[in-house]
Amino acid sequence: MDARITVLPGDGVGPEVTAEAVACLKAVAERFGHHFEFQKALVGGAAVEATGDPLPAATLDLCRTSDAVLLGAVGGPAWDRHPRDQRPESGLLRLRQALGLYANLRPVAVHPALEDASPLKPEVVRGTDLMFVRELSGGLYFGEPRSYSDDAAVNTLPYTRREIERVAKVAFELALGRRKNLVSVDKANVLETSRLWRKVVDDLAPAYATVTVQHHYVDSFAMALITRPRDFDVVLTENLFGDILSDEAAVLAGSLGLLPSASLGGSVGLFEPIHGSAPDIAGQDRANPIGTILSAAMLLRHGLNLEVEALAIEAAVDRVLKAGHGTGDLKGARHPHGTRSLGALIREAIRPPRAKAPRLADSAYAWCGSPEGHRSKL
Ligand code: IPM
Ligand code: MG
Repeated sequence: MDARITVLPGDGVGPEVTAEAVACLKAVAERFGHHFEFQKALVGGAAVEATGDPLPAATLDLCRTSDAVLLGAVGGPAWDRHPRDQRPESGLLRLRQALGLYANLRPVAVHPALEDASPLKPEVVRGTDLMFVRELSGGLYFGEPRSYSDDAAVNTLPYTRREIERVAKVAFELALGRRKNLVSVDKANVLETSRLWRKVVDDLAPAYATVTVQHHYVDSFAMALITRPRDFDVVLTENLFGDILSDEAAVLAGSLGLLPSASLGGSVGLFEPIHGSAPDIAGQDRANPIGTILSAAMLLRHGLNLEVEALAIEAAVDRVLKAGHGTGDLKGARHPHGTRSLGALIREAIRPPRAKAPRLADSAYAWCGSPEGHRSKL
């Protein structure tokens, strides 16, 4: 396959982690005989410095005309005092919106080798395998009116039936390919938007009769998530709740640095780790590249429809973790590494000594849970 991939390294540790993910994609191309062309562009603070705009038109054009986009991270203290439209984060939000990406998939699995890496008890986290589906282009992040003065500020939380329905369908479809269990998270005891959210999910449920649907209030779900995470499968949330809960869920996995994401819904998908730019460790070869490398696997699966290739990356990460390798954020890793040497180990594990393609069962990071799992673009 020929594919054009736009790479947006961004700020902080972004350039370091995307470099490792691109190297893994090159190893995949070599192993499976594909031709991937990579083009770098500016986003976030790096783009503000170079052009004054966190999402320059040239970057958006390149993304729109490529087959998939891989992003590192945006933000940092240097831009904290900038007005909203010149903050790195607003570049990312505009990019998500411009590409029509309304469904953000954030898988959270606990690797058997990392059961002790979480501050939670191993018997609580063991076997956790969640798929968050976060609504990404609506809600408080984009709602109007919004305003700020030093005396009063306004944000608005709007959702339409159509916006809820399209992301809920993604969650139902994913549940069908997994353990057929869907939790929808809301605050329907207080918020009108949440009442509508719940109604739309209930209206869709009969069309997915084999999927069990539960509703949870976000406050009690925040507690259930870290006390009995194994009880859940697919978790559907609005934008801000999903942002918060997915960082919380990272505690289960052992480190925020492990978790990937895929943003889907438009004609081009965006793939990025869920962590931020970590300016405190930027440029020190300390960042964990696994979240971005697993995002590259999601890019192969959801962006390019290359399932076996995605599994090859996931199996490589799996093997490297199983052997006790890890960056400093992974408590208890027997073999400590920097960003580059951990990336190199994973890349090497992608290249065949064995010519046999990995089977789904070989990988603890086989996110979609079943061979017939959801893998297409939306
Ligand atoms: C995330 C991040 C972003 C978000 C920021 C950087 C705008 O926290 O992807 O989770 O809030 O969506
Ligand atoms: Mg976040």
